[in-house]
Amino acid sequence: MTATTPQDPLALLGIDHVELWVGNAKQAAHFYRTGFGYTPVAYAGPETGLRDRASWVLGQGSIRLVLTSSLRPGTEIADHVARHGDGVHDIALAVPDAAVAYEAATERGATGVLEPTDDKDEHGIVRRAAIATYGETVHSLVDRSGYSGPFLPGFVEWASVPDPLPPVGLEAIDHVVGNVELGRMNQWVEFYERVMGFTELVHFSDEAISTEYSALMSKVVWDGDGRIKFPINEPAEGKKRSQIDEYLDFYGGPGVQHIAIQTGDIVASVRALRARGIEFMRVPDTYYAELADRFRDVDLDLDSLEELGVLADRDDEGYLLQIFSRMAQDRPTVFFELIERHGARGFGEGNFKALFVALEREQALRGNL
Ligand code: FE2
Repeated sequence: MTATTPQDPLALLGIDHVELWVGNAKQAAHFYRTGFGYTPVAYAGPETGLRDRASWVLGQGSIRLVLTSSLRPGTEIADHVARHGDGVHDIALAVPDAAVAYEAATERGATGVLEPTDDKDEHGIVRRAAIATYGETVHSLVDRSGYSGPFLPGFVEWASVPDPLPPVGLEAIDHVVGNVELGRMNQWVEFYERVMGFTELVHFSDEAISTEYSALMSKVVWDGDGRIKFPINEPAEGKKRSQIDEYLDFYGGPGVQHIAIQTGDIVASVRALRARGIEFMRVPDTYYAELADRFRDVDLDLDSLEELGVLADRDDEGYLLQIFSRMAQDRPTVFFELIERHGARGFGEGNFKALFVALEREQALRGNL
């Protein structure tokens, strides 16, 4: 039985939103709006009766991004930011019934973080609960079927002027990747299987994901129909420190490494993002000579891919195009991926080596390799 079978109390409808806890949510919101083309959706803060925090909600396609910061020292949010820097606090999941989902999850061994709670305002009611996952990351379980407001009760519409720049075309969250400690990957795969009824989609060994210097292992769990895919990485032994070790060191433990976002036209999206000042990782130029060989029979605009640094990969079912942003903050922790899928269900495993060489080049520049 998969997680999406109607009888399953933990039937997940998809990712409701992703909340980052950051040092300065007002400025972060400006970065995601101006840089990544997100649109203002909702706001909550002192003006709406909150005394200790401010939250800015942005949207693009079906993606909802929430940026929250503490207004005071000594709060849970301030402590989280002090330890981790800007990072993902919550990968919130939409469920048909948050109380039933919470009960099922905790019965299956999940640690409860928030018992089912009803929040109301003039737009209706949202029932919410939350469980813990790796590190200090949580999964809220959100039932918003009885709600018509801009985000959650207590939030007001964030009215703003239209974006003067061309749209970026980000459509939906494709997958959210977690980094965990050495030896812990299987434990978290088992957690998602047991608690959420996920299954293992694919597994990458350290031999598949290794460069001359470092290695990592990765397993992907999913809900069975592609609405939720969670790759989990752990470091593996190499001659030098892997990028996962660098993450764990600077994040101060396990957490979200990257959020991959679907676009229908990655070339147009990357052009729009570059015009907005967003920077991407670059693989060595030799990559594109090999690519032309591998994609001889596919109608691809190879010149544009090379110009922009977009990567391509293929499997039995089709192909995909992808690119990785540079770090979204000073700590080498969280970044974003753009992905355009044409049938392929993979994660760009044919690009892992080229990509990791590029990542290690930046890691070396930081003095962390
Ligand atoms: Fe990815």
